[in-house]
Amino acid sequence: MRHLLTPQDFSVEELEDLFVLADDIENNSAKYSHICDGKKLATLFYEPSTRTRLSHETAMINLGGSVIGFPSGNVSSATKGESVADTIRVISCFADIAAIRHPKEGAAAVAAAYSSIPIINAGDGGHQHPTQTLLDMQTIRRLKGRLSDMTIGICGDLKFGRTVHSLVEAMSRYEGISFVFISPQELRMPDYVTDILHDRGIDYEEVTKLEDAIPKLDVLYMTRVQKERFFNEEDYIRLKDFYILDEKKLAAAKPDCYILHPLPRVNEIAPEVDNDPRAAYFLQVKYGVLVRMAVILTLLERN
Ligand code: CP
Repeated sequence: MRHLLTPQDFSVEELEDLFVLADDIENNSAKYSHICDGKKLATLFYEPSTRTRLSHETAMINLGGSVIGFPSGNVSSATKGESVADTIRVISCFADIAAIRHPKEGAAAVAAAYSSIPIINAGDGGHQHPTQTLLDMQTIRRLKGRLSDMTIGICGDLKFGRTVHSLVEAMSRYEGISFVFISPQELRMPDYVTDILHDRGIDYEEVTKLEDAIPKLDVLYMTRVQKERFFNEEDYIRLKDFYILDEKKLAAAKPDCYILHPLPRVNEIAPEVDNDPRAAYFLQVKYGVLVRMAVILTLLERN
C-alpha cells in the first residue's frame, strides 16, 4: 500500500507517469468516469480549506466514487480528545482512501502509520503539501513544455509556506533548475530545505527585493504570508504586504514568465495581473482536479 506524504514518495519517472495519466484523463474523461464506482474517499480536514478539500472530492466524484468526511476538526471527535491515530483506524473501516489536512507537522505521517488505506497528505502544518506541488508541476510542465532547465523565483512567506517546501524539494530533482528565493529576512526558506539544495548541488540565491529578481525568472511563484502560523499579530501586520506584484513590476519579466500562486491570494498579486496572459493561478486549480484524479487512481492501483 502506498501513501502520498511528500512528493519524494514518487520517483521522477513515476511523477511523469502521473502527469501523463492526468493528461489522458483530461483528453478522455469518459474512460475514467466509472473507474472508482463503489469506492469512497474520506476528507479529514482539521484546518480550513476551499481548494484542496473540494478538489479532492470533485476528483473522486469525477471517477465515479463517493466522498465522506469532515471540513473542520471542530465537528469531529477530535474535540473530545480523539487522536489522529485512532481516527484513521476508524476511517479505515469506512473508506478506501483518505486525504488529511492537519495543523501539526507530521500528522499525515502518523495517520499513514496507523492506516490500512492509502493516505494523501493534504497539508501538515508548515511542512508539506504534496498534491499542491504535483498540480504546480503539471501547470509548469504544460505551460513551459518541460520541468527542467529553468530559473524559478519563489516569493513571500518561505518560512511557513508548506507549498514552497514541497515544490523546491520536488523541482530540485530535475536537470538545470535554479531558484531565487525572495523573502524578508524573517521569512527565509528553512535550513532543512536549503540543506537539500546544498546536498544536490543546486544553485539558489536569496534576495529581498522582488524587482531585482523578476527579469531573470522563467516562473514566478507568489505566496501569501501565512497569518495562521504567526505567534503575534504585530509581526503579521508588518509583513503581510511586503510584496505586491502588479503590472508595473511584471513589465520587467520575460514574456513567458508564468505567475503561479497556490491560492488563496490576499494582497500579494494585484487583481490587474489576472488579465495578464502569464497569470496561471486559476489554471492551476483546473490541473489540481486532474492531478488529484491521477493520484487517487495511482494510490488505489487503478491506473
Ligand atoms: N492551495 C490550497 O491549499 O488552498 P486551500 O487552503 O483553499 O485548500
